[in-house]
Amino acid sequence: MRLLVCGGAGFIGSAFVRRMLAKHADWEIAVFDKLTYAGNLDNLKTVEADSRYSFVRGDICDREAVGGAIEGAGGIDAIVNFAAETHVDRSIDSPEDFLKTDILGTHTLLEVVRERGISRMVQVSTDEVYGSIDEGSFCETDRISASSPYSASKAGGDLQVLAYHTTFGTPALITRGSNTYGPYQYPEKLIPLFVTNALEGGQLPLYGDGMNVRDWLHADDHADGIEAALLSGRPGEVYNIGGGNERTNREITEIILDELGLSWDTTVKQVTDRPGHDRRYSISCEKAKTELGWQPQVDFEAGLRDTIRWYRDNEWWWHKIKHGTAEFADWRARWYETRG
Ligand code: NAD
Ligand code: DAU
Repeated sequence: MRLLVCGGAGFIGSAFVRRMLAKHADWEIAVFDKLTYAGNLDNLKTVEADSRYSFVRGDICDREAVGGAIEGAGGIDAIVNFAAETHVDRSIDSPEDFLKTDILGTHTLLEVVRERGISRMVQVSTDEVYGSIDEGSFCETDRISASSPYSASKAGGDLQVLAYHTTFGTPALITRGSNTYGPYQYPEKLIPLFVTNALEGGQLPLYGDGMNVRDWLHADDHADGIEAALLSGRPGEVYNIGGGNERTNREITEIILDELGLSWDTTVKQVTDRPGHDRRYSISCEKAKTELGWQPQVDFEAGLRDTIRWYRDNEWWWHKIKHGTAEFADWRARWYETRG
């Protein structure tokens, strides 16, 4: 199997690359990544000497660059697309790049697949496209109802995939994963932000009442779900990939504080809520379990505590992200300093 993994220098893409190279001796992986603020070659350090791995810097909106990467790899069997702008808060702050990468970039990859007769594409999407649900769980045939510019852009990418399959027979399919946690996640997202802030003696900015619910999935389980869809999924289909671990943000915060031996009163600061903040995400993963034979393996509390310890023990990885350039400080100032 020869793969082009777009967005493979990000959090879940790099987990997928590391894990697939470890699991499959005969796979070759070319990573194609723009290296935005969220892309980081440190995430791929453990595979950089592996002759089955190569890296090309480029933008998925640039059709010629994608084609060049495919030719450079000597042809490919499939594209797995992780490349996206992924942070909901940044999509509220400045949505344009989300529309470009998440919609136009996906469209560009579909055109490349069509033009070159590539036999498979997996579009990595999100449970956020369904929006919030008070009770029960969304299944793949439910209506999409995106709330943020991020989820609307991901939904636009999903609709392109389904339309290309219907119109041109493009052999593409979609996975919709739930909130993912693990090592190497850019420290703008809830878990790495709270853990690294806590480790630096800073505050944990909990939005609103902290009772929003997310379904947490370990990055290794997410990678395995995408692998199962790549190997056994049907073109034109959608597969939900969730951890089955619904927790409020308060519960997540309590585990972080407990693991690090800190108290709520001195660290947590309740701040103005995110606009359009979805209350609860929940997906049914019966289709992935029965059709793909996939199910999550990582125990949530053990996985979260391991993850917290990984950030504690790998300050080299996150310290330069938070303090090595002005990028993170600018974001923090723009977003958090206005939230009373
Ligand atoms: P991330 O932000 O950590 O990484 C995104 C990667 O895409 C980065 O390496 C970045 O450089 C690259 N990229 C961005 N724009 C690009 C472009 N135009 N061309 C090429 N590369 C580009 O993201 P993540 O959290 O690893 O998410 C990966 C995918 O999984 C995304 O599609 C996201 O929507 C989806 N997803 C994420 C989660 C989650 O909880 N993190 C859950 C479900 C689905
Ligand atoms: O559901 C899948 C999605 O999960 C992915 O598609 C997205 O790419 C990924 O970023 C994530 O989106 P969320 O908005 O759920 O993740 P985030 O880590 O930003 O927020 C998780 C919850 O924590 C959410 O209810 C908002 C809250 N939160 C977040 C931050 C950054 C806070 O209370 N304070 C914060 O500072």
